[in-house]
Amino acid sequence: MIIRDVLKFAVEYLGKTENAVLDSEVVLGFVLGVDKEYLFAHGNEEVDGFLVNLFKKYLDRVKNGEPVSYITNSKEFYGLDFFVDKRVLVPRPETEMLVEEVLQFLKSNADAGKCFRVLDVGTGSGNIAIALAKNFDGQDVVALDVSESAIEVAKINIEQHSLEDKVQVYQSDLLDVIDDGENFDVIVANLPYIGRIKNNYVGGGVEKHEPGTALFGGNDGLKLYKKMFQQIADKRVGFKLLVGEFGFGQGKDLEILLSKYFDHGWRIKSDLAGIDRMFAVEG
Ligand SMILES: C[S@@+](CC[C@H](N)C(=O)[O-])C[C@H]1O[C@@H](n2cnc3c(N)ncnc32)[C@H](O)[C@@H]1O
Repeated sequence: MIIRDVLKFAVEYLGKTENAVLDSEVVLGFVLGVDKEYLFAHGNEEVDGFLVNLFKKYLDRVKNGEPVSYITNSKEFYGLDFFVDKRVLVPRPETEMLVEEVLQFLKSNADAGKCFRVLDVGTGSGNIAIALAKNFDGQDVVALDVSESAIEVAKINIEQHSLEDKVQVYQSDLLDVIDDGENFDVIVANLPYIGRIKNNYVGGGVEKHEPGTALFGGNDGLKLYKKMFQQIADKRVGFKLLVGEFGFGQGKDLEILLSKYFDHGWRIKSDLAGIDRMFAVEG
């Protein structure tokens, strides 16, 4: 089969959606070790039968709802490439908003010789911690995750980006390993926020393939944020900026929670689609 026919077959097999086209191109490019432009420019090139069969096996996984990033073991986030597999959530583009917010804070408070302390809670693949460290020099990042297997992946990415000196990763249930009275300039968290009962907006493929510990935050989705806010209060953890991501429809619940734990200085921000997505608290 030639490249053009392999792609045509794949798109039909996956159901002729826009995603089917994109996914087919990414997976075929991965199998052949070439980029999308190559596929377009070499449509008449013959594909080895062994590779066609391998491609079809991957297509079955895509049809079964598995994220393409788990097949290619790669996901772009904030312009950087991350190793991902089923041990971690696939980084989402909306999470780049958290990185933007933190970088803006760091840049506008930068002082010659100052080294900021940043804490990333629920680091997963390490995408937030690494995107921050790659884009602003004067900081040390502590990255935490409860999942040992997620930490293995974060370590792969830290090494891949040569950030062993800048990003330290530890296993911790939320802030358990943080000392009482410890101070950070920034705490950033993208904790699991899908509710088991309320706010249960999750696609079948996501729930089936991505780790449950990365998705669910109790019945209303906010259990882990509540627990972390309580730990911050109990341990008197200091911060100048605390930012976190939350899900569709949770803005009002978050406002109630934030006003309970922080008297003032908090705000909710929406994404480009106008959906409330992120909270920021000034300490
Ligand atoms: C929504 S994912 C976010 C991953 C990554 N930071 C990102 O933005 O793509 C949530 C992460 O929080 C971790 N997590 C879940 N419960 C936790 C807890 N109690 N303490 C620390 N991390 C937790 C999960 O293992 C998962 O890696």
